Amino acid sequence: MGFTKFVLAIIRKLRSVLLLCITISLLFYYTFENEIDILNSYAENEYLPSIKKELTDEPGPLSGSNFDSKMDPSNNHALLEEVEAPPTPVKSKNKEINLADPITLKEKNKYFPLLLSEPKNDPTLPFNLNDHSIALNNENDLSLLTYKEHYPVLLENPLPAISLRDNKIPLASIQVNKFEDGGALHSTIKNDIKKLFIQSWDQENLIELARKNKEKRWPIKLIDSLDTLYMMDQQTQFQVALDVICDTDFRIPPKNVDLVHIPDLSTRVLGGLISAYELSQNQTLLVKAKHVADFILRAFDTPNRLPILDYSWKSPFNNRFPYTNTTMEDLTKMSLELTRLSQLTHQDKYFDAVYRVFESISSSVEDFHIESLFPVRVDASGCQLLTTKEISSGAHQKNSKIMKSIDESLKFIHCYQTGKILPQRGENQKHNVAELTTIDQPFYDSLVKLFHQLNQHDILNLYETTTVPNDPNKNKDTIIEKNTLHGQNKRSTGMTTSFNSKTLFQNAIAKLQDYLIFQPLLPEITSNVSLISSLYAKGTFAPTTNELDVEMLRTFSMDTKLCSLGSTLSMGSKIFADTSVEKQSLDKLAGTLTKSCFEIYKLFNGAMPREFSLDPCLNSENGCQFDREGKIDDISKGLYKGDGDRLFNTESSGSNDLRVKVADDKEKKHKNKIHDSELAGDDKMTKLYTFVKDEKYNGITLINSDEIDMQNGKWRNDDEQPLWVNKMRSKRILSPEIIESVFYRYRTTGDQEWRNMGQDILALIMKNVQLNGVGAKGMWKISELKDSSDDRFSDRRALPSSWFSQTLKYLYLLFSDSDDFHLDDFIFTAGGHLIRREVSVKTNL
Ligand SMILES: *[C@@H]1O[C@H](CO)[C@@H](O)[C@H](O)[C@H]1NC(C)=O
Ligand SMILES: *[C@@H]1O[C@H](CO)[C@@H](O)[C@H](O)[C@H]1NC(C)=O
Ligand SMILES: *[C@@H]1O[C@H](CO)[C@@H](O)[C@H](O)[C@H]1NC(C)=O
Repeated sequence: MGFTKFVLAIIRKLRSVLLLCITISLLFYYTFENEIDILNSYAENEYLPSIKKELTDEPGPLSGSNFDSKMDPSNNHALLEEVEAPPTPVKSKNKEINLADPITLKEKNKYFPLLLSEPKNDPTLPFNLNDHSIALNNENDLSLLTYKEHYPVLLENPLPAISLRDNKIPLASIQVNKFEDGGALHSTIKNDIKKLFIQSWDQENLIELARKNKEKRWPIKLIDSLDTLYMMDQQTQFQVALDVICDTDFRIPPKNVDLVHIPDLSTRVLGGLISAYELSQNQTLLVKAKHVADFILRAFDTPNRLPILDYSWKSPFNNRFPYTNTTMEDLTKMSLELTRLSQLTHQDKYFDAVYRVFESISSSVEDFHIESLFPVRVDASGCQLLTTKEISSGAHQKNSKIMKSIDESLKFIHCYQTGKILPQRGENQKHNVAELTTIDQPFYDSLVKLFHQLNQHDILNLYETTTVPNDPNKNKDTIIEKNTLHGQNKRSTGMTTSFNSKTLFQNAIAKLQDYLIFQPLLPEITSNVSLISSLYAKGTFAPTTNELDVEMLRTFSMDTKLCSLGSTLSMGSKIFADTSVEKQSLDKLAGTLTKSCFEIYKLFNGAMPREFSLDPCLNSENGCQFDREGKIDDISKGLYKGDGDRLFNTESSGSNDLRVKVADDKEKKHKNKIHDSELAGDDKMTKLYTFVKDEKYNGITLINSDEIDMQNGKWRNDDEQPLWVNKMRSKRILSPEIIESVFYRYRTTGDQEWRNMGQDILALIMKNVQLNGVGAKGMWKISELKDSSDDRFSDRRALPSSWFSQTLKYLYLLFSDSDDFHLDDFIFTAGGHLIRREVSVKTNL
């Protein structure tokens, strides 16, 4: 008895020790493996100093280090010659590398990332990816399920604690306590909206579709509508939908999917799953969300840890930089979802991915022509290519931030990793390309909401000390960090204490008010309508004075997506305003923009163009009334000179008269000091902002006088387009932006006018829906307007999934009890999904 007990006790003791030993040795093993991989990649990248350097001044072939030939039998010598090599190399003494050969490319791509501009320019597309020799591994399914990172994060940036950052600053309340109309639910309207939802949801037949296409697609629209189903008490349907979703494998997309749009996957699928989990607490949903997020993280496996937004997940050539042609607004769209997942799973990796994106962006704020506003498209690779001269001087061998890579034409290049996002600049041009710029609503929206979600912890200013490495390549830097290519190469991280979300937000709004807001000429004067323009900004650098002269040309066109800025500003006024004056100013702007969008919405009878361009009202004394005869006259006089892009980017097309600048007095007073990364040392560059003269017509899309029927004053190619509109893109009746802002206005101000506006919007939607969905005997179908737009995600006949996840949800909540889904307890993601705020009340209040 005693003996067996003794033996058992020993075994029990040993078991835990043994387990520990095994764990530790496994840990060591993997660390070691990883280390070898990293070392190998260093060698391949020529990060390590070569033992014998035979660098001469003569340009031409790089004398390869001994390392190279050892690590890579196919030889790295004579890289520069390879660049010019014909596709089918003739055997010579220098063994040549033909990257156009898929097998070679796959081998080289293990170490040298591909630098591509956009998915459609992917040079590997013509390869037959099912070819056994280049396919990922075997045809084994498992090879897709598992993924080995090229650029593992060595130290994750931890999620900040739930507790308030600063106990002395009370937590701002987003929602007001007092509502003019009491804030109680409005049951008739609420029921109407519910009916509308049920009708359209049934009509879409999402469950059936999901079951039928189980192998081919993920039930994205079903997931997107889950939380709305739940809110509207459709428990039976919710259960059925849940069964279908819990039965779907989310670890990898269906095999027939090649390209995955990561922001869409995040906003609709990940957001939808998390939101449904928050409401129902069904653990399976959380597991599914984790699967999706783990897949999403694969797209972040790039040298600078910024995501590849259109991710070709099955490609055997998956060592890549993010695209050099990336839409700025998509870069931060997954922030709230991933951050919330870190909170729910206590795994930092999701938050870390978000953090690094924000870090890159914030370190680039000053690098664009107009600070705090970002171009619509940016270079997310952060690569600055080395010139042939720089390469021949051997600079690339001394700098750990220079990475040998493969470009779109399958040639070797060298990329200097700036760690930033960069303006899209043409070949060797520094500042000569006009950047199309506007306010990046999704970015600023994430900034506000993250601040709220993280209880005042500022993602741009999280870690006061340097205990946490910000640079994923930190270890590499320790190997060689001298003689950097670009002078001192001081990377301003933007992570100083004076730089934070609040100042960035406020700067951006100031720029918005100074440069982007304009009043349009409208056929009916209702109230002061203010809209947001985009602008082309073009810089000319004067080395003698060290000034960057930024010329700006407004387009007077607005993307309707910007109508949701009203919600961002409403929240911003609660969170990012220090004084009551600032608060009022932000709040007023939010109100003005929301009302203005509504006015335009009414003028279009509820069929809102996704983008429209109008004539600016430069002299509001006359009341900004559109003058039909005057416009016809101006057009015939040729005053509408044409497209801003064309005018701005053609050097000598007789448009020099346009370049007479009008100094913008306001800006002259506070010259912006900026530190340009391309200038060595601490030289500061000054930016001067000027508007191009005669701007009323300049930015407006080219109008030939023959585009218009002078007699009738109508556009020739679209008689539905009113004359006061210069250009418009496909119209929508079910889109959510305006109602989103109206909902936020109501909850943050308590003013009844917003509910009234909501009723008008609902009425207009209903009118359009019935008009558009003609059916027999008073039965109508809900459908979006037919259009020929190139929306790549929406099936044109079907309803947009934002109809369920946003439009109807915000309408419904507007008329619900204002305590339902209180804005201090819940945060809405960009896709309209709910995440719960974690507040540890006890420790703070
Ligand atoms: C979650 O939902 C699935 C599908 O309806 C169900 O099978 C499972 O039991 C649920 N889990 C919990 C914890 O309720
Ligand atoms: C970037 O991509 C867009 C859309 O594909 C395209 O219109 C634009 O010309 C591209 N820009 C550059 C610099 O390639
Ligand atoms: C419209 O703007 C003008 C000038 O800014 C101002 O005088 C007027 O009061 C405004 N009207 C409304 C209705 O806000």
